[in-house]
Amino acid sequence: MEDKKIIFSAVQPSGNITLGNYLGAIKNWVDLQADYHCCYSIVDEHSLTIRQDPVLLRKRTLDLLKIYIACGIDPVENILFIQSHVPAHAQLAWILNCYTYMGELSRMTQFKDKSQKHADNINAGLFTYPVLMAADILLYGADLVPVGKDQMQHIEITRDIALRFNSIYGDVFKIPEGFMPKAGAKIMSLTEPLKKMSKSDENPKAYISILDDFNIIAKKIKSAITDSEGVIEYRENDETKAGINNLLTIMSAVTGRRIEDIASDYQGKGYGDFKADVAEAVVEHIRPIRQKYDELSQDKAYLVDIYTRGAERANHIADKTLKKVYKKVGFIV
Ligand code: TYM
Repeated sequence: MEDKKIIFSAVQPSGNITLGNYLGAIKNWVDLQADYHCCYSIVDEHSLTIRQDPVLLRKRTLDLLKIYIACGIDPVENILFIQSHVPAHAQLAWILNCYTYMGELSRMTQFKDKSQKHADNINAGLFTYPVLMAADILLYGADLVPVGKDQMQHIEITRDIALRFNSIYGDVFKIPEGFMPKAGAKIMSLTEPLKKMSKSDENPKAYISILDDFNIIAKKIKSAITDSEGVIEYRENDETKAGINNLLTIMSAVTGRRIEDIASDYQGKGYGDFKADVAEAVVEHIRPIRQKYDELSQDKAYLVDIYTRGAERANHIADKTLKKVYKKVGFIV
């Protein structure tokens, strides 16, 4: 049991979980769970950096737990928990704040993007968000953090903070590595394919929610923005192909086939046929997830049991790390 390495990862319950979240992160968690001890959190504390409706936040937190399980994450083998149930995250984040520089935080792309988008609410939490994320990861001694491309910069800063702390106090934290999927590390918006697909996009046509009706999913894919060239070919650095590149990536991620093989199937065919097939492949991929999700929706007591046991196990590990840190910095424990 001890020989397995450790994974930590998380999603914010701050919107409709998208195909991007699934293909960029959760799908990999499912694939990796056999070989690692895994902790998967629903990071409600992170969500507060943007204003949330409390009733909706509670609902989305439970929805996300259902999605984790419905996607195939084993809730008994792995630790599934809600971040606010484990106080050590906020406690360690405070300490790590004191070992993190304003300069490095102000270089974070996500901070720059989000503070532009929410100019009326550039709160301190939004600024120190990566420190809470570092605390999440470091508390569990994670070796690997499977995420989409947009989170890699936060993993880098986590490593920097951990190395800085270790250089002062000795070998306290394990230095984690980020891990991205081969296909799907950055799924793009369906309406503006140069932007990433985001669960907080104001335009619901831009993203596919795992919980969208199947006919809506198909409609969104069929009306995805592409180009007028009429050639189904993946061209990485050609911005005019961003829409087609994205659909090929999605098709590859849900079918497990190589992009080149998919593109060659569509030589001489039109975008209409291709989009219809992508829509079908996505719907068929999501169908069993939705079935399981609907079943879980009937059993609230089961979900409460999962997150309660998850919190117990997570607290046990996190408290040990926190105690070690408290001792190192000179707190009386
Ligand atoms: P969040 O909630 O924005 O996204 C959850 C996961 O989905 C990935 N992702 C994408 N992947 C591919 N294409 C996209 N368009 C796309 N959009 C999102 C993200 O990279 C992420 O892996 N800060 C994190 C949550 C977090 C966390 C952590 C993650 C908090 N603590 C510790 C790992 C470890 C976030 O906001 O993810």
